[in-house]
Amino acid sequence: MEALKQKILDEGRVLPGNVLKVDSFLNQQIDVKLMEAIGKEFALRFADDSIDKVLSIESSGIAPALMVAKELGVPMVFARKRKSLTISENVYSVDLFSYTTQKHTQVIVDQRFLTAGERILIIDDFLANGQAAEGLLKIISRAQAIPVGLGVLIEKSFQSGRQLLEKANVRTESLVRISSLVDGHVIFSDDGK
Ligand code: G4P
Repeated sequence: MEALKQKILDEGRVLPGNVLKVDSFLNQQIDVKLMEAIGKEFALRFADDSIDKVLSIESSGIAPALMVAKELGVPMVFARKRKSLTISENVYSVDLFSYTTQKHTQVIVDQRFLTAGERILIIDDFLANGQAAEGLLKIISRAQAIPVGLGVLIEKSFQSGRQLLEKANVRTESLVRISSLVDGHVIFSDDGK
């Protein structure tokens, strides 16, 4: 997606550890017009998939997921990150391990908000190692809902997320694919859309 690519080139900053800082339009301040365009783009890509619900994870997945849900005319649910290890009986809960931060986080969705047979589209900001997506897939599976696909804004294709999702047979659509962040430069994959 050209507009997102340009925004990354204009405002993104590469930090040590292969991290792309995009807090001026995605991770803290949000470019609402860009999010709207992103919502339309994903809605187009999944137009024929009879999506019942969009599922995301707090915090940075919420803004794009909301726009996708608005375009598709369906509800949006986001998984919450909980610090406490006390697990209520009425939530689906998974433990996520982030390679980037080397931390475990418990992620929960209230059972009332996912129903067996519902067709779910996952939306998130980044696909890095795929741990967040894998966690959401586990939650969908526990709810006996159907994972139709994953839409991410920025895929870091030099990390292992896509391989993990291909193994799990989940259709993955990314708006921009980055093949390298070496030496402070953002290099997009040739096949990035
Ligand atoms: P994974 O889910 O694909 O395995 O990602 P990983 O655990 O490696 O990433 C942990 C957090 O870091 C996630 O956000 C993820 O979106 C974010 N992240 C990964 N790579 C980058 C990057 O290059 N730039 C930025 N800005 N974020 C990156 P999170 O901790 O859940 O944060 P938030 O959603 O609350 O903002």
